[in-house]
Amino acid sequence: MYVCMCHAVTEDQVKKAIDAGADTPRQIAKGCRAGTDCGSCVRRIQALLGEHGARPCPTARLAARLGLADPEAAPSEAAPAAPSAPLRAA
Ligand code: FES
Repeated sequence: MYVCMCHAVTEDQVKKAIDAGADTPRQIAKGCRAGTDCGSCVRRIQALLGEHGARPCPTARLAARLGLADPEAAPSEAAPAAPSAPLRAA
């Protein structure tokens, strides 16, 4: 499956780059140029980095630093939706 359509980079290529030591989207881009054109694939690359243990996403790192979550823990059931705010009249 393609991750980056602009440069025809597949998920396997990104995983191989992660296995070879890349742990940021920039490092992935150095090897295959994924994410260096339109940028729409960068979130998927970040997700692959997180899934393959290269590096948790910035939000997970911040939550861990603040003691709010364990980034190594399996995700629990989805949190209940926040109540919607009333719309303001313009
Ligand atoms: S899809 Fe990857 S840079 Fe455009």
